[in-house]
Amino acid sequence: MTRKEFSIKSEFDPNQLEVEDIVDTTLRPRTLEDFIGQTQLKEHMNILLTAARQRSQAVDHLLFAGPPGLGKTSLASIVAVELGVGFRIASGPALARGGDLAAILNELNEGDIFFIDEIHRLPKAVEEVLYPAMEDYKLDIVIGKGPTARAIRLDLPPFTLIGATTRAGLVAAPLRDRFGFIGRLEYYDSLELKAIIQRAAKILAVQIDEHGSQEIAQRSRATPRIANRLLRRVRDFAEVKGYKTINQQVASEGLKVFGVDEAGLDKVDIDILEAICVRFSGGPVGISTLATSIGEEPETIEEVYEPYLLRLGMLSRTSRGRVATPRAWQHLGIEHVEYTNPKLLEP
Ligand SMILES: Nc1ncnc2c1ncn2[C@@H]1O[C@H](COP(=O)(O)OP(=O)(O)OP(=O)(O)O)[C@@H](O)[C@H]1O
Ligand SMILES: [Mg+2]
Repeated sequence: MTRKEFSIKSEFDPNQLEVEDIVDTTLRPRTLEDFIGQTQLKEHMNILLTAARQRSQAVDHLLFAGPPGLGKTSLASIVAVELGVGFRIASGPALARGGDLAAILNELNEGDIFFIDEIHRLPKAVEEVLYPAMEDYKLDIVIGKGPTARAIRLDLPPFTLIGATTRAGLVAAPLRDRFGFIGRLEYYDSLELKAIIQRAAKILAVQIDEHGSQEIAQRSRATPRIANRLLRRVRDFAEVKGYKTINQQVASEGLKVFGVDEAGLDKVDIDILEAICVRFSGGPVGISTLATSIGEEPETIEEVYEPYLLRLGMLSRTSRGRVATPRAWQHLGIEHVEYTNPKLLEP
């Protein structure tokens, strides 16, 4: 029996995807050459892609890990463009049942890229459908119900699974082990961000000078998505105020209006720091207590805000919770209160 004689029913609705990136396609780099920074990762990708092309084989399964907005989804779609193959997209939490995944797998063509965003949030039962598919290109399904039900195994064409995760530590070990390559995306330095801003400005037909892009780069939390977002806000500001070119002063004024400070911190970052420093006397404070006190989800703090505050050295993680560092007090401009010295954990 061949696959495709089957139509597997699925309740998976691609319109449900929380992929804000579908909207933001104009600025997304399309080829590896367009993709700025991540030099080492790009080098590795180049080797993988060239080898796959030479052997006319599907690329090995790839896992991209790193904080939000650093280019995981972009890289996945670049792989599809570079190899000229199909690109299917799904996300961990949206694939609720094994059948949803089976339906997608069953429709894949040879060499296609199947991208699963937030793969650490894939339900366990769905993960189990994925294992034989990744390892042997086999799809196990059960047809019929009750005593007449029987399990059959369908052959899948060779395909490439690309997973993305902001929390590599939460990807189950058996799943992680089935990826042939794990690429970790690093934060960008300000030269790379400047280049990203200048590229985006060109696409958006915005005039910006060296110092203007430098100013935005410095406040972009080392993250391309934020660099692009700040550029768009400064562009709005410049248009409304009638400035033709974005220079350092226009960028700085515009960002101030939108509540982004010199370190790139926004209101939520400042709320976090203030809560730790003032309300919890510098910490340590547990992540859920902290989250409740500022009205955010603990996961959002851990995935979106904390990595950058750790990187700036304003926050540290200890065995007893989060602690503000002297740099945080300094940034807030309030007097530093001593805290006892809890055992530091790796960030
Ligand atoms: N290296 C890069 N060069 C140029 N632009 C980039 C680069 N990386 C990311 N971008 C820009 O940043 C945006 C966000 O990138 P992307 O969606 O790939 O991040 P992500 O890692 O998938 O984030 P998330 O974890 O939130 O899904 C892209 O739309 C693109 O415009
Ligand atoms: Mg993404």
